[in-house]
Amino acid sequence: MRNTRMWRVSGMFANAVLGMALIVSTAQADDATRMRDQAAMQARLTEIMADPAARDAAAAAGKERGSFCAFCHGDDGISKKDWLPNLAGQSARYTLDQNLAYASGERKNQVMNDLAANMTDEELINLSVFYAVQTPERLDADVHGKDLTVGKNFYQSACARCHGEDGRGEKGYTWIAGQKQEYVRRALTRYRDGEGGRIDQEMAEVTASITDQLIDNLAAYIATLR
Ligand code: HEC
Ligand code: HEC
Repeated sequence: MRNTRMWRVSGMFANAVLGMALIVSTAQADDATRMRDQAAMQARLTEIMADPAARDAAAAAGKERGSFCAFCHGDDGISKKDWLPNLAGQSARYTLDQNLAYASGERKNQVMNDLAANMTDEELINLSVFYAVQTPERLDADVHGKDLTVGKNFYQSACARCHGEDGRGEKGYTWIAGQKQEYVRRALTRYRDGEGGRIDQEMAEVTASITDQLIDNLAAYIATLR
């Protein structure tokens, strides 16, 4: 009796290990384990974005690779859930940098850490291009009970100089207009508290002394930006 149970347990363990081994061996193990040349990848991305033909080709390849990403981030990079970030229209460089941070484990999210670590350099670049060229159409946010005026005033005084008046990150900063409310709430909380590997000097400074309530109002206002 006891032996059978132990066999079952160790059998389950063996299956889990086998499953992991399969995942690791079918993934690009060399890409997952070696150090990526981040500067070379960023330079390659800039080159591609400046050349319309290369950009179209990369976006097409990224779309194909992104069919799996669509389960969470939507077919066109507009996610259907409030805690999952939209990727459509995002600066290609920002998307690449975030995926590199997930791949190295610096930014922490189990799903994204595993996914990014197992993609090739080229796949990461193509995906960044694909999402950058999608139209950032936004779904309406439920901002019931939030003070949008408070959110707006603070946004204009403390955030617009980098992310732009309308959140479109003109100067190469992150596009945040219409970003998902719960996702933005979590992101701002992490920058403030230095959690989840979201370490950024500029964001840490602007969020250093903001309250949870102000974060709620800011996230609501950002979700309404178009
Ligand atoms: C099972 C759900 C899931 C899948 C599939 C998924 N993601 Fe994510 N993704 C998330 C979650 C959750 C976050 C937010 C994590 C965090 O807070 O850091 C995220 C965050 C991101 C971000 C950061 C966005 C930002 O605004 O900072 C990028 C870029 C990203 N994902 C790209 C991808 C790509 C490319 C794929 C496909 C290869 C993919 N994701 C597949 C759940 C998923
Ligand atoms: C001095 C420039 C600067 C200012 C001012 C600034 N930001 Fe940022 N913001 C950044 C940078 C740079 C990043 C990307 C950091 C990273 O890589 O995680 C960022 C990222 C973000 C993100 C994460 C986006 C995502 O998709 O995960 C949000 C949300 C955000 N900022 C909101 C704000 C708000 C709200 C304010 C005002 C309280 C603000 N920012 C002020 C530079 C700035």
